[in-house]
Amino acid sequence: MTKIKIGLLGLGNVGSGVAQILQENAANIFKRTGKQIELKSVLVRDLNKKRNSNLTNVHTTTDAHSILTDPEIQIIVEVLGGEHPTYEYICQALQNKKFVVTANKEVMAKHHAELTQLAHQNGVDIYYEASVGGGIPIIQTLKVGYAANQLKAIYGILNGTTNYILTKIEEDHLEFNQALQEAQKLGFAEADPTMDISGLDTAYKLTILAGIAFKANLTLADISYEGIQSISLKDILYADEFGYKIKLLAMGQRTKNNEFCLSVQPFMLPKSHPLAAVRNEFNAIYVVGDAIQDAMLYGKGAGSLPTGSAVVSDIMDIAFNYPHNSRRNLETDFPNVKVLPADLQQNKFYLRLLVNDEFGVLEKIAGIFGKNKVSILKVIQKDIIAKQAELVILTHLVQQKDMQQAIIELKKLNCVQEVCAIIKVGLE
Ligand SMILES: NC(=O)c1ccc[n+]([C@@H]2O[C@H](COP(=O)([O-])OP(=O)(O)OC[C@H]3O[C@@H](n4cnc5c(N)ncnc54)[C@H](OP(=O)(O)O)[C@@H]3O)[C@@H](O)[C@H]2O)c1
Repeated sequence: MTKIKIGLLGLGNVGSGVAQILQENAANIFKRTGKQIELKSVLVRDLNKKRNSNLTNVHTTTDAHSILTDPEIQIIVEVLGGEHPTYEYICQALQNKKFVVTANKEVMAKHHAELTQLAHQNGVDIYYEASVGGGIPIIQTLKVGYAANQLKAIYGILNGTTNYILTKIEEDHLEFNQALQEAQKLGFAEADPTMDISGLDTAYKLTILAGIAFKANLTLADISYEGIQSISLKDILYADEFGYKIKLLAMGQRTKNNEFCLSVQPFMLPKSHPLAAVRNEFNAIYVVGDAIQDAMLYGKGAGSLPTGSAVVSDIMDIAFNYPHNSRRNLETDFPNVKVLPADLQQNKFYLRLLVNDEFGVLEKIAGIFGKNKVSILKVIQKDIIAKQAELVILTHLVQQKDMQQAIIELKKLNCVQEVCAIIKVGLE
């Protein structure tokens, strides 16, 4: 009977989920793969830390080298997190001809091309299903399930923390900071939430997904991203009034000229769009392909067991074919593609302005929009408080650089006190 031994780097949230699934589902895993998969060694930082995992016959160590060079180990599972020394450990594992399974979006977003190349030079492979969407098998779906399609677009709610915060602002009528504190209390946000709320975490994930979906060599620099820090209850309520929900949306679109638009930002989605119904910490990915047309995958985007499930399914995929590497993990070399700079991308916009409540203001604003080719769909005057009027404006499609120029000019008008919000609108 073929035995496959695993070296597990990390025994935190995800690592303990992996260990639990390997232990509890051992009989099923054996039945499905025909291989006995055994957790041999685990790398941790602190040997004295109290842990919930009940590991028997597993060697726990702080010496990464001893695992990475162990000739009995065929698969290295990396669930440490961070870029360094993780990247170096993955390289060493591949050079030592070990398959790698990782949950690390940062390393995969930054080093995808070189790591897949290194894997193939050494006759092995690198799997990273858990790096995006936790328990949602989106990478396997894009690579294998939708392999027959040319994909036109991919839209995702890829960060549970920000989706939870936006849901709480809307449903409990909280301001951003209150919703963030609640998310931290319940464990849905880190003590330092910067990577999530700034949109960077989602941008890493879009780099990975769009690369696979469009068969393109993409880097973080190809993606313009912004976070949700400036989203207020007021904008969420106005969005609701106009028939929209605000979500932190990852967007990848193929244009008619085979160029790509890639961005992450708070976005107003029509309530009728399936992604608008994704609440709390859930994630979802909406894909448009020439053959499948529209499809959506939905589930838990993080957590010990959902993420552990993705890691173990990658281990099983490798085990199924072992010792052969039959390349079901299809993608190898991605070509460079043309990415449209953010400035040239087109969108509809929602704007909220505070202006003086006086004669002629609308005319001046309309003049600036007209000069910059911004066509107005709707203007609504909301509250008037102490001679301040609140204006909400929805535009037709406009090039981002024209919108930016209009905003610069609006801010110079004496009658405009503040540009409070600018949010992209679309997917009708
Ligand atoms: N948490 C999720 O739901 C989730 C979802 C999707 C993807 N991921 C990704 O999965 C990875 C792990 O996340 P996590 O939440 O499981 O992290 P975590 O709870 O902080 O666990 C990290 C583990 O790695 C060990 N470790 C870290 N640096 C080390 C080093 N230099 N040397 C030796 N051991 C080291 C830690 O050891 P000690 O225990 O001794 O401190 C700990 O066991 C990250 O890349 C993350 O982005 C996580």
